[in-house]
Amino acid sequence: MSSTIPLLNEFEAAHISERQALPDRYLGLSDAEMDARIAVARATLAQRLLILGHHYQRDEVIKFADQTGDSFRLARGIASRADADYIVFCGVHFMAESADVLVAPHQRVILPDLAAGCSMADMAAPDQLENCWEELTQMGIPGIVPVTYINSAAAIKAFVGERGGTVCTSSNAGATLRWAFERGDKVLFLPDQHLGRNTAYKMGIALDEMVVWDPHEMFGGLEPEQVARAKMILWKGHCSVHERFSVQQIAAIRTQHPGVRVIVHPEVPFEVVEAADDCGSTEYIIKTVTDSPVGSIWAVGTEVHLVNRLADALAPDRTVLSLDRFGCLCSTMFRVSPNHLLWILEELVEGRVHNQIVVPDDQKHWTRVALDRMLSIQ
Ligand code: 13P
Ligand code: SF4
Repeated sequence: MSSTIPLLNEFEAAHISERQALPDRYLGLSDAEMDARIAVARATLAQRLLILGHHYQRDEVIKFADQTGDSFRLARGIASRADADYIVFCGVHFMAESADVLVAPHQRVILPDLAAGCSMADMAAPDQLENCWEELTQMGIPGIVPVTYINSAAAIKAFVGERGGTVCTSSNAGATLRWAFERGDKVLFLPDQHLGRNTAYKMGIALDEMVVWDPHEMFGGLEPEQVARAKMILWKGHCSVHERFSVQQIAAIRTQHPGVRVIVHPEVPFEVVEAADDCGSTEYIIKTVTDSPVGSIWAVGTEVHLVNRLADALAPDRTVLSLDRFGCLCSTMFRVSPNHLLWILEELVEGRVHNQIVVPDDQKHWTRVALDRMLSIQ
């Protein structure tokens, strides 16, 4: 299948000025030519190269990954390859930033297309978090442990790390909340309100013990008494891909496919998790569906490339359907094309590094502290 380059969304348009254009000579190549040239460049770079691929990447990119995984597994895998000089991260910006903080000083992390961001990560800006923390202090609320989802900028992770908090991923969010409640009475969870709510509810925190902090409102749009009563302060952020899944879709698919089991990612809204049969990270979804008995029917509520891969290759002899019949595409993950990968690799062969992700030195220490805490919590 030829790679089509989609129109820019709002996030991408905002970042276009930092983005180096793909040279014209990398446009219009056939799939076969790109595959062959990527293979040659990989073989030439050999052990100097590590390609990481998140499960939402397209087939024509992820097939070249040395390691695939969810956010947690990819972050953990980096340490295993200290021999690699170049880590090409086929994923999105916050993943490459985390990698840059976790790698050894000689290693360079590259994001094939700098426009591959995450709209959820952009919903928490560092100045908004500083205001929030200051306003919580003014409200006189003690004992708050800040926890940020890995889908956030390095500056947010550094802020959280410096204040005794941690990073979590969708696969260790429950363990992370338990860790946080051993250290404080309340958790400020950002930027995904759904992951925060779904995880806290699962560990027994009632919905009326959670409030939503709107970073666009003074004092989050909340009264001090509301915050004082709450155990979870949920940042008003979300994933625009996963918010599209609905209870109506689940009802419709159960009618059309009696016996279907519904599995969703924890970034979906609360009522969708409640209506589903199971919920977990992308790695968990893959394991659950591939371990299920032959003949099982699954409806999966997550990004469409992973769902299609489960249906076509990973889970043979099971029926795998997208919960959204139009399929939910993460357009920023899709920015990483085989054309970009080929360009990056051929330039590395020539000793030229493009699209390197470098976390500023003043953020590195505390981001590292927060990420090390994350890696220790499972
Ligand atoms: P996981 O692969 O860690 O479950 O995360 C999904 C996601 O949204 C990545 O951006
Ligand atoms: Fe961000 Fe959602 Fe895309 Fe994940 S799926 S990278 S959270 S926009």
